[in-house]
Amino acid sequence: MPQIRPSVTPQDTICAEVQAPPNAMVVFGASGDLTHRKLLPSLFQVFKRGLLSEKFCLLGCGRKDLSTEQFRQIARQAIQQDAAAESTKELDPFISRLYYLSGDYSEPSFYKNIKDKLAELNKKYKVDGGPLFYLAVPPSLYGTIVEHLGLSALSPTDRPDAKQKVKLVVEKPFGRDLKTAIELDNKIHQYFDESQIYRIDHYLGKETVQNILMFRFANAIFEPIWNRNYIDHVQITIAESIGVEHRGSYYDRAGALRDIFQNHMLGMLSLVAMEPPVSFEPNSIRDEKVKLLRSIRPLKFEPWAQYVVRGQYGPGIVNEKKVLGYRSEPGINPNSKTETFLAAKVFMDNWRWKGVPFYLRTGKRLAHKDTEIAITFKKVPHSMFISAGLEDMAPNVLVLQIQPQEGISLSFQAKRPGSKVCMSTLGMSFSYSEVFGAEAPKAYQRLLLDCMVGDQTLFTRQDDVEVSWGLLTPLLRAWETDDSAPYEYPAGAESFPQADALIESDGRKWRKLSSP
Ligand code: BG6
Repeated sequence: MPQIRPSVTPQDTICAEVQAPPNAMVVFGASGDLTHRKLLPSLFQVFKRGLLSEKFCLLGCGRKDLSTEQFRQIARQAIQQDAAAESTKELDPFISRLYYLSGDYSEPSFYKNIKDKLAELNKKYKVDGGPLFYLAVPPSLYGTIVEHLGLSALSPTDRPDAKQKVKLVVEKPFGRDLKTAIELDNKIHQYFDESQIYRIDHYLGKETVQNILMFRFANAIFEPIWNRNYIDHVQITIAESIGVEHRGSYYDRAGALRDIFQNHMLGMLSLVAMEPPVSFEPNSIRDEKVKLLRSIRPLKFEPWAQYVVRGQYGPGIVNEKKVLGYRSEPGINPNSKTETFLAAKVFMDNWRWKGVPFYLRTGKRLAHKDTEIAITFKKVPHSMFISAGLEDMAPNVLVLQIQPQEGISLSFQAKRPGSKVCMSTLGMSFSYSEVFGAEAPKAYQRLLLDCMVGDQTLFTRQDDVEVSWGLLTPLLRAWETDDSAPYEYPAGAESFPQADALIESDGRKWRKLSSP
């Protein structure tokens, strides 16, 4: 499609950035993958941007027997790997603030040691606020750690004098279904109140996902047409070309529904479809998200294929390389019925969206990595060009390209020079990298800073978790009693016939995945 480049100059830039208050951070799972791949490199970037407090220090806790010196060495390598090309003169001062304690998560003595060490660090760095506890451990350990934080009085009741509250950051998944999500919440709420809990969904920290709010509510021209009168349907795609990588044993118990759909997918859906919040206050936004989730019509199961399709990747070729099928990946049960692809047709029963289908799909080992939200508007009600043979004209499509080629595009019909009636679909597009140049801050940078500052806007509230599990748990139960397996699709495919049928039976088509 020919592209028109609009002139986008980020004039009138309005920015507000806050600095983190004095904080000690305690990371459980400090010798694990998440800490090294995401947390430490992101914290380092925040430090480099001058947004961490002078008094910041981090106590890593883990089962692995490491000294502080060894932990610092590993941290240095992890950060250098991530920020290889950048100047790292700030690395030494950052690394010198990292400490490590090893222990057994189920032993009270471990928490006594943590408490003593924190007291020492608080004194050294003159920290006067409560610490931020980060659970970067497998979910099976959440309950044990939270219980011990409470029993050892490391949790809030112990610090009535603290200038800032103690905070608890929990990584997804928040439970495996409605029952376990409620159990986990009950456990956490024994020792922490909701204002201290930060449930991370890293998708909400992506610049392009946050931009959904700005795009919809900082412009007056989109809201009037953002409804069933003008919109034909919406497609939300989270496609990945990677497989389960080294996370087979986790993924085989999760699947696409728990891994992506319950959190990232429904999170994006609610931002696109919710009513305008009254303000940019955390609870004002979170109230609207929950209200939207509550309006989703319960997923119907009969006839199955009309509403939900599951797939699992078989062997195939991705990026010109042969790759294994899901059931041959390390850590995966060779008879696994876990879905690596999920497509669903969802309706919202409210005034704005009644009758507008939202087609959602996510999958691993698809042809390309591509996350986008595409809003297809209704076609013109009548073609005045019918005498020239132009009856069926393509509708306008607005695409919010979340990643990897972050941007926004709008397609429309326009006259082509030449014969009297000659039309083309043109596109107007804006690319983040072309306009803003430098790579945008990664999601974890935003989220870590927000936890420290105490801004819960981009974190999932308890009622949000419960409503989304309430919606999806019947589907999980139905799969448990269903003998059929997910459809197999070849790794590297764009789609497969059963997934196509879900949308084509409505006379529509999935959009092609954008290639890099
Ligand atoms: C994680 C999932 O939450 O998100 C992974 O557990 C998935 O399976 C990842 O690969 C995708 O995140 P991103 O930021 O790479 O799109």
